[in-house]
Amino acid sequence: MHGLAKRTSQKLKMFWQLNVLEKILIRGTAERFYLIIGGHIYFQTVAAAVQLDLFTFLHDSGGATKEQLCKQLNIAEQPCRILLLGLTSTKLLCKKGDVYTNRHVANIFLSRKSPKNIADVVMWQHFINYKAMYHFHAALLQNKNVGLDEIPGAANNLYERLQQQPELEKTFQSAMQQISVQANQIFADNVDLADIVTLIDVGGGNGSNVKQLVQKFPTLKAYVFDSATVCQKAEENFAASEHKERLGSFVGDCFKDPFPQTECILFCHFFTIWSKEENLSLLKKAYAALPSGGKAIIFNMMQNDSEDGPLGASMGSPYFLTLATGKGMLYSWQEYRQLFNEAGFDQVKSQKLPMQHGCIIGTKR
Ligand SMILES: C[S@@+](CC[C@H](N)C(=O)[O-])C[C@H]1O[C@@H](n2cnc3c(N)ncnc32)[C@H](O)[C@@H]1O
Repeated sequence: MHGLAKRTSQKLKMFWQLNVLEKILIRGTAERFYLIIGGHIYFQTVAAAVQLDLFTFLHDSGGATKEQLCKQLNIAEQPCRILLLGLTSTKLLCKKGDVYTNRHVANIFLSRKSPKNIADVVMWQHFINYKAMYHFHAALLQNKNVGLDEIPGAANNLYERLQQQPELEKTFQSAMQQISVQANQIFADNVDLADIVTLIDVGGGNGSNVKQLVQKFPTLKAYVFDSATVCQKAEENFAASEHKERLGSFVGDCFKDPFPQTECILFCHFFTIWSKEENLSLLKKAYAALPSGGKAIIFNMMQNDSEDGPLGASMGSPYFLTLATGKGMLYSWQEYRQLFNEAGFDQVKSQKLPMQHGCIIGTKR
């Protein structure tokens, strides 16, 4: 009996020690783990708040009670309470007494009054990517973009399907613009294009990028090269610009149509879409089209050569596999450099930039 009691006590002690050890090991990571496991719920909480434009209201009003928010958002008390609980626990809102206010992060990124807001990016994730990402497991097994079935149409990539879906295409281009305005400003601020006379921005979207570039470089002429529906949006965008005589667009498919004559071919957030073979074919085509001294430049988020991050690369890559094309991902610096070398570029320069971005510039001798 005495032996049994001793053994039981030893087991209890071991059990207690293991529990303490486990708690120490997961300390600091448990919260991140909950945010991952509940990611779909927390994302929908933010997406609903953006659709209700709650963050802009709190930005403008400087704070509001639950009762005021129910009235403003036109929702019942209990749903409002559930929404506010999600937003305060994830530290997007702050509750002091009865008053809710935006935390800084929400004021900067989610209030539509902020120049850095990414509310349209949240809407892109919600209306275009969210349902598609449910198919990630199937995409891994089949190595194709099975999530595309969530977008009506017959084309085999997202961009071509969007051409038949004006509302979704608008959502997509607004999101790209919000991403581009911030990311592409980094490009304009850090990359020297002073010697370039004309530049073609392949897959240049609604032209926000080239607009920033001609603003920075006073002699540069810059053109978007994209599908007809997207070029139309770019032209509308250029019409109001003070630099409109140095802006323009070419309708084309980069895989089928020749590149217009130019000394610089830019691919912004573009090589992440395609397979390495397709990217190599684009670089070879650019090399052939460029004059001596001409440049091909890629600019996007880069994966570490050690293949362990950063977060931006791990967030973007499943989207390209599951939805966009089924072929792309955020490749590493060394993979891109190798493509430039294989395409024949003599001088290949890498430049690390903020926001996990980077660019690689290849010059033709
Ligand atoms: C991810 S967005 C990038 C937009 C912009 N470059 C930026 O940095 O935000 C991809 C763009 O490539 C365009 N695109 C897709 N396939 C294309 C193709 N085969 N030829 C030309 N443009 C294409 C899409 O219409 C879209 O505007």
